[in-house]
Amino acid sequence: MKIAIYPGSFDPPTMGHLDIIRRASKITDKLIVAILYNPNKTNPMFSIKDRKKMLNLIINDLDNVEVDFFEGLLVDYAVKKQAKIIVKGLRAISDFESEFQMALTNRKLAPQVETVFMMTNDKYSFLSSSVVKEIMEFGGCIDDLVPEKVKEFIGEKAKNESLF
Ligand code: PNS
Repeated sequence: MKIAIYPGSFDPPTMGHLDIIRRASKITDKLIVAILYNPNKTNPMFSIKDRKKMLNLIINDLDNVEVDFFEGLLVDYAVKKQAKIIVKGLRAISDFESEFQMALTNRKLAPQVETVFMMTNDKYSFLSSSVVKEIMEFGGCIDDLVPEKVKEFIGEKAKNESLF
């Protein structure tokens, strides 16, 4: 069984993330979308619980995808989940350097786990969670940047509490 991990912060999940999830789910038997729980990362906009909710909302038509979170080294988590593949999305050349470093580090730590890169859909090559957050911060429109269900979730949340 080909089990793959798609790791990230997903703060919040974007259309670019969903595109990679959909495409990766077609070429793996099981895909685990794994949210990094990083207590050192300053000021995430959404809690792990909310990010998990948002991801679950957008993957509910994909039978072989599940959402989880992890703490610590990605390769340790991959080994624990018996995953031999790490899926990463590549947007632009600017992503390459850090992704190259992470892939080689992960290979050094766990040679049996292979990192596979998927090129972003060109529609989303500019898109990141940070861009979405910045637009939201200044009241801009995030239509087409995040999945509809994520937009609704954020809208509901913003009604009840201040996100900034
Ligand atoms: O969405 P992001 O924030 O770009 O995702 C980064 C992530 C979670 C993939 C990366 O930070 C990660 O794998 N962190 C886990 C810690 C780890 O394993 N570090 C060693 C590789 S350099």
